[in-house]
Amino acid sequence: MSKIVVFGGNGLLGKRICQESVNRGLKVYSITRSGKTPTFNSPAKPNEWVDKVNWLKGDLFDPHSYKSVLMGADHVVHSVGILFEGAGYKKLANAPITSLPGVIWDEVCKGPEQPNPFETEPLTYHNVNTRAATLLCDTVSEVAKHTKSTISFSYISAHNGSPLIPQGYIDSKRAAEHHILHHSDPEYVRPLILRPGFMYDQEEGLLDNPRYAISNVVGLGNCFGMIPAPLTTQQVAAQLVSRLGDPQACGVVSADELAKPVLV
Ligand SMILES: NC(=O)c1ccc[n+]([C@@H]2O[C@H](COP(=O)([O-])OP(=O)(O)OC[C@H]3O[C@@H](n4cnc5c(N)ncnc54)[C@H](OP(=O)(O)O)[C@@H]3O)[C@@H](O)[C@H]2O)c1
Repeated sequence: MSKIVVFGGNGLLGKRICQESVNRGLKVYSITRSGKTPTFNSPAKPNEWVDKVNWLKGDLFDPHSYKSVLMGADHVVHSVGILFEGAGYKKLANAPITSLPGVIWDEVCKGPEQPNPFETEPLTYHNVNTRAATLLCDTVSEVAKHTKSTISFSYISAHNGSPLIPQGYIDSKRAAEHHILHHSDPEYVRPLILRPGFMYDQEEGLLDNPRYAISNVVGLGNCFGMIPAPLTTQQVAAQLVSRLGDPQACGVVSADELAKPVLV
């Protein structure tokens, strides 16, 4: 049974990568600072797959906190990133509509929470989108050399060219891509770079998550050829996991390719 380690496995996309991996028979480990299971705004479907994932604590900035989990891994995924510097917007973006007033009160009126003790680094583009990823890639490479194996390393990057997307975000993603593609040894690391545009969860509706409403606006922009169509996290996860078993699959996967039907 192949082993996959998903960094950010309880996040919006990460949880669907874990789910797809379980469905395809992989042994799945998630690493996040909290080590918590994911939250589901819509309880529509039973989530039995959650019990099949090993939900572990670890911090990307501290390789000692996760290196032992990488031993014996066939696949590693980095699904962590920030679109805006600072953390508060994530809670707003992922909260159910009904709890938005409380989240806005907490973030805007009371001020942000005390820093998480695991939060060792400021939440800048360079730290989260670039440095955390290159550090993980180098650690994966070290482990692969040690175990004389090749490990696939997937980095969730982003599509360039959508209006309102900060240039600093894209630059930090491209800097990480460059390191992963050009500074890792192909004998030990097989890089996969995914560049989705806007994503939303297909199980969540209008009242569950503001992303549903935003996806409709993005879809309208797509009709005018301005931006790529919004993608469901389930679609992106399926595209990613379907490539893991193919030793030839490597390099950049564009937003257009991610939108295509998944080959089983
Ligand atoms: N959302 C979109 O529409 C979109 C579009 C294009 C590209 N992307 C990219 O897709 C990726 C995933 O995005 P997302 O929206 O799924 O993110 P998300 O929901 O914010 O999830 C991020 C995850 O990272 C974990 N995390 C944060 N800091 C960590 C650290 N230092 N060490 C270990 N784990 C850490 C978080 O869990 P803890 O807080 O428990 O640590 C969380 O599980 C990102 O790279 C993002 O830039 C997203």
